[in-house]
Amino acid sequence: MIKPPEFHDRMLSLGLARVSEAAAIASARLVGRGDEKAADQAAVDAMRRQLNLLDIRGVVVIGEGERDEAPMLYIGEKIGSGEGPEVDIALDPLEGTTLTAKDFPNALTVIAMAPRGTMLHAPDVYMEKLAIGPGYAPDTVTLEMSPSERVRALAQAKGCAPEDISVCVLERPRHEAMIADIRSTGAAIRLIMDGDVAGVIHCAEPHMTGIDMYMGSGGAPEGVLAAAALKCMGGQIYGKLLFRNEDEVGRARRAGIEDLDRVYTRDEMVTGDVIFAATGVTDGSIVQGIRTEPGWVTTDTLLMRSKTGSVRRMSYRTPI
Ligand code: FBP
Repeated sequence: MIKPPEFHDRMLSLGLARVSEAAAIASARLVGRGDEKAADQAAVDAMRRQLNLLDIRGVVVIGEGERDEAPMLYIGEKIGSGEGPEVDIALDPLEGTTLTAKDFPNALTVIAMAPRGTMLHAPDVYMEKLAIGPGYAPDTVTLEMSPSERVRALAQAKGCAPEDISVCVLERPRHEAMIADIRSTGAAIRLIMDGDVAGVIHCAEPHMTGIDMYMGSGGAPEGVLAAAALKCMGGQIYGKLLFRNEDEVGRARRAGIEDLDRVYTRDEMVTGDVIFAATGVTDGSIVQGIRTEPGWVTTDTLLMRSKTGSVRRMSYRTPI
């Protein structure tokens, strides 16, 4: 039997960083310019150009949307030079388009790559998410618990009071009851305007970010990207797809999802080795945003491999 080409994650990781850097650099001139669409388009174009230079036989499994709604980096698009390993690609060329347009913190370009068939094909629907950092026993917190129960359970596992726990939540009207329940424990809440991939990543480095737990609903594609990041950094994430209408159920069915009520763990969303890169567009607590000076641009990238648990922070300066 012919063995499929290996997933050269070590070699491919630098290529992945280049892809993520290129998208960030392309959106740099649109930071704070109030034009979300233009910023996203610039990142998409640059990411696609760089991806096509990689020696991979890639398929976009998490992308800009279904084929009829996204002309580029759509779900199912074949990407790469057509040589090399067969891989799945999950990407969000600009995670936080509004953050970028308003120059608010934590806008990132994000991409993950894994062997073919190892990442959940999450449809473009919402996902209920719950994440904590490394070092806790499985199911220390669960989606079945109420928000206040999660805070108390995490505090007990961490050996601190609920008041010492800090939770990150997307500021949305749909989260009002959840926020009130968390507040009833005395825990702190960091409300973010957008960008829950960054929100989840915050849990993996609580000593740097001050965040212990992420909870709430956001995009399901972003949930898979966040699972890829935590698979590299350590930590747990649970996700359950949420459906508001028949169209959304149809999206899940087309993506091959049969059990609509399933709670996915991190390793069920990303079942094999994965590499992950994220570059800062605006300043944030995980990586710095893009810095420009006359003739130069500098980016900060987080580059990680789950196989080794390696986490690199790379600074890249290039003439413009
Ligand atoms: P965009 O970058 O596409 O604007 O998405 C940002 C984001 O905040 C995600 O991080 C999050 O998962 C989702 O939007 C939340 O969706 P909604 O704004 O509908 O609550």
